[in-house]
Amino acid sequence: MSEMLRMPAEQAHAAELAALAAGDVGRRPAGWALSPQAVVTYLMGGKAADGAVISPKYVGDKRLIETAVATLATDRALLLLGVPGTAKSWVSEHLAAAITGDSTMVIQCTSGTDENQVRYGWNYAQLLAHGPSREALVPTPLLRAMERGKLCRFEELTRMGSDVQDTLITVLSEKMMPIPELNDTVYAARGFNVIATANNRDKGVNELSSALKRRFNVVVLPLPDNAQQEVAIIVKRVGEMAQSLDLPEPKNVAEEVARVVAIFRELRAGSTEDGKVALKVPSGGLSTAEAIGVMVGGISQATFFNDGRLTPETLASNMIGAVVKDPVQDRAVLGEYLETVLKKRRGFEGYYASLTEML
Ligand SMILES: Nc1ncnc2c1ncn2[C@@H]1O[C@H](COP(=O)(O)OP(=O)(O)O)[C@@H](O)[C@H]1O
Ligand SMILES: [Mg+2]
Repeated sequence: MSEMLRMPAEQAHAAELAALAAGDVGRRPAGWALSPQAVVTYLMGGKAADGAVISPKYVGDKRLIETAVATLATDRALLLLGVPGTAKSWVSEHLAAAITGDSTMVIQCTSGTDENQVRYGWNYAQLLAHGPSREALVPTPLLRAMERGKLCRFEELTRMGSDVQDTLITVLSEKMMPIPELNDTVYAARGFNVIATANNRDKGVNELSSALKRRFNVVVLPLPDNAQQEVAIIVKRVGEMAQSLDLPEPKNVAEEVARVVAIFRELRAGSTEDGKVALKVPSGGLSTAEAIGVMVGGISQATFFNDGRLTPETLASNMIGAVVKDPVQDRAVLGEYLETVLKKRRGFEGYYASLTEML
């Protein structure tokens, strides 16, 4: 096990990336470490030329990933859009890792992000002592990515103010950044591009200006199509996370994931799977990522407090935490679901009892 809590994708999957590069005969766009086909294989899983197994990172429609990869080979930037927990950040990290071997140039956008965090800042001690110079300039991840021909990732792009977002227009359309203080300009090296993520559900987002929107090709990452696919994603990620946290994985994980997913999908959709009962929808997102969190929390609780047995009781409090984001409304929504749907459902007796007791 590594000493680090988490490694960047290019380190965690270094062997896969090396195997893909070794047998990669496809045409590589300038500055890319792999051909677009090999990048898609890295994301979707498959085999390298020497037979090495490449694990799937993204579970879903391959064409979406192809579009994303093809976009990054053009002069347009990529915007991954979707509700929270649809693997936008995850895909963005793996794309950067596969394409340029470096996923670490990230700008996390918030309402407090200002232009200096996007363009460049100054080391004021240097600035005062020696005046403006390249040594006094503090490059941002964006400026470094431009200089090195790498990908820069903007997380939650629409959270920063529209005026700050618009500083990206020159960078994306002209591929250069003027530094008026030094009477200088940084031109981006080949390979440079931007991957941004944004979600269209949350409060506090600022619309992209139409000028900026035109510089992006938008790929919408959807929620999983069906329950089986969602269960598969969760089982896989829970397995990987349990391993990295050094938690033993209980045998019944897949069965319990299926039950948790069944409940979450119904609440999310606002109706039962068979479409017969209409339900109220909780205020939170109840995404795949939320279900992964519930399972990992449950496994930790099972490991340390329940002799490793993963039961509805160990999962219930985590589930309530995920569903009840608004203490009054969501509690009522869940209560109603328990009484009208779960009470009568075979195989869910444990969930009905523990959720009702803890709610
Ligand atoms: N379709 C999917 N394929 C693989 N992993 C997924 C999928 N959907 C969700 N996940 C998992 O959900 C977790 C959260 O995803 P994240 O990228 O943080 O979501 P977002 O940035 O869209 O809010 C990640 O661990 C990711 O592996
Ligand atoms: Mg994200």
